[in-house]
Amino acid sequence: MRLAGKVALVTGAGRGMGRRYALGLAKEGAAVAVNDVEADNAAKTAEEVEAQGSRAVALGGDVSKKEDTGLMVSEVTKAFGKVDILINNAGVNPFILPAEQIKEEGWDRVMDVNLKGVFFCCQAVFPVMKDQGGGRIINISSQAGLFGEQGLLAYCVSKAGVLALTRVLAYEWSRYGISVNAVAPGFIAAGMNEPILGKSELVSALAERVPQKRFAEPEEMVSVVVFLSGEEAAYINGATIVVDGGMGGYPPNPIIDLIRKR
Ligand SMILES: NC(=O)c1ccc[n+]([C@@H]2O[C@H](COP(=O)([O-])OP(=O)(O)OC[C@H]3O[C@@H](n4cnc5c(N)ncnc54)[C@H](O)[C@@H]3O)[C@@H](O)[C@H]2O)c1
Repeated sequence: MRLAGKVALVTGAGRGMGRRYALGLAKEGAAVAVNDVEADNAAKTAEEVEAQGSRAVALGGDVSKKEDTGLMVSEVTKAFGKVDILINNAGVNPFILPAEQIKEEGWDRVMDVNLKGVFFCCQAVFPVMKDQGGGRIINISSQAGLFGEQGLLAYCVSKAGVLALTRVLAYEWSRYGISVNAVAPGFIAAGMNEPILGKSELVSALAERVPQKRFAEPEEMVSVVVFLSGEEAAYINGATIVVDGGMGGYPPNPIIDLIRKR
C-alpha cells in the first residue's frame, strides 16, 4: 500500500487509461476523485474504485473549462480534505489529417483539452497543494510530443506544450513542495487505440516501429504513474519519463540494412 492515506484526482478517468490509473492508485491505498466530461462513466469508475475497497468520488466536468476545474477541486477537498496527487490524463486525438487540412476548430479543440485543460487543472490544485505543503502532479503527454508524428500535428504540438508546461511548473512550484513530472507513452493496447486493436495488419505495422515489436500493456503505464505518485519518486521533478518501448528516434534506417548485407 504505497499510497495509503493519499488523495488522488484523475482527469478523464471514465474509461481508457484514466480508468486504469484510478484503479491502480486505489489498489495502492489512495482515495480517488474520478473526473470525466462523461459523468456517467466517471460514476462507473468511482464504483469500481469503491468495489476495490478504496474511497471514491465521481466528478463530472470539462477540464477545458476553467470554472469546471475549480469546482472539481473544491468537490475533492469537500469529500477528502486535500489533494495529494493530480493525474492530468484527459486528452483527445480527434483527427488524423495532413497539416494543410487542419481546421481552426479542430486545432482549438485539441489545444483546449490537451494543453489548456492540463494548465487549468494545475492552477486549480495549486492553492490546495501549496497550503498543505506539497503535492505531486503527473501530466500524461505522449512520445508524439517529443518526436512528432505525421498526421497528428495539433496533437503533437499540444503534447509538446505539456512537456514545456511540466518543466516550468516544476521550476516555479518546487519551493512549495510540489513536484511536476510528465509521462510520455508510446502505443498502448488500450484507450484511444481500441478502435484499431482488431486490425491486425495495422497493429503489426505500427508495432514494427517499436524495438520491442509490440504495444504496451496498460499495466506498464499504470506502474509508472503509481511510482511517480509515491515516496520512491520524491527526488524526481520536472522529468519526462518516456515509456515507449524504445520507439523514439527509431525510424527505420536503410543504411543499417545495407551495412548488414555486406
Ligand atoms: N492510448 C494511447 O496509446 C496513448 C498514447 C500516448 C498518450 N496517451 C494519452 O493518454 C491519455 C488517455 O488516453 P486514452 O488512450 O485513455 O484515451 P480515451 O479516449 O480512451 O480516454 C480519454 C478520456 O478523457 C475524457 N475526456 C475527454 N475530454 C475531456 C474533457 N474536456 N474533460 C474531462 N475529460 C475528458 C474522455 O471522456 C475519456 O474518458 C490522453 O491524454 C492521451 O493523449 C494515450
